[in-house]
Order: sequence, then C-alpha cells, then structure tokens
Amino acid sequence: MKILVINGVNLDMLGTREPEIYGGRTLDDINSDLSVIAKNMGADIDFVQSNIEGEIVEFIHSGRLYDGIILNAGAYTHYSIAIRDAISSIKTPCVEVHLSNVHKREEFRHTSVISAVCTGVIAGFGEDSYKLALYALLKK
Ligand code: DQA
Repeated sequence: MKILVINGVNLDMLGTREPEIYGGRTLDDINSDLSVIAKNMGADIDFVQSNIEGEIVEFIHSGRLYDGIILNAGAYTHYSIAIRDAISSIKTPCVEVHLSNVHKREEFRHTSVISAVCTGVIAGFGEDSYKLALYALLKK
C-alpha cells in the first residue's frame, strides 16, 4: 500500500499557529510519527504540503499512483471547487481530515465542499485525525 498525505494552506505553520486550537507540534513532528506507524504497518507513505491551490490540485492528480490519500486542505476545504473536482477526477480513495472539530467552530467552517467526494471525514482528534485516517485506509 502506498499512501500520500497532502497538507494544504497554512498547515506549514503548525507548531506556532494558534496552538490552543491546533496543538504545539509541527507538521514535521506529525509526519514523522505517521511515517513510523506506516512503516510498522508495512505501507509506504509520502508527504507534501502547499499553500497554493493549484499545487494542491497537482498533488491530488499525482495521487492516482497511490492506494489512498489523506488530505487536510485547510481553509480551501470550505470553498475550493477546484480541489473538489481534482478529487472527483481520480479513483484513489481520499480521506478528508482536520485537526480541529470544524463543526464546533465558526459557521463558515461547517461547510466542506470536498466531503461529498471523499471516502470519509475525520475531524477533531488533533494529530490523531491523521493516524485514524491512515488506519482506515490501510484496513481497506
Ligand atoms: C483545519 C480547519 C480549517 O477550517 C482551517 O482553515 C485550517 C485547519 C483543521 O485541520 O482543523 O487551516 O483544516
């Protein structure tokens, strides 16, 4: 199994960005834990991040070569039809993840334009959201 983890806009700021919401660990910390779990479960895992919508679209297209995608699109989740269409354009299962429980937060975060084209959604478990997504994909 080959898994691609895609992090979108502002997730490179984890560690210093609103730690009361997103926790104090950096994206590198989170990715290195996921790497260990994936290795223990016999899977290959790659990580990419971009703040640029078009680059995230390209990453999703490259997900054609993987068995599963874990995607935290950040704020693009709430309005990017381009990212939604990119997910629809490939067959690879994609799990939408969020560190925070977006439904407990501002109203504009309650809408996801990508959930309907994702295999599932995991939100609100901090960095464990990524781990749960990884387990879900590797169990398939
Ligand atoms: C987020 C939630 C989004 O609403 C926000 O814009 C983010 C992070 C999360 O992981 O909780 O950038 O996707």
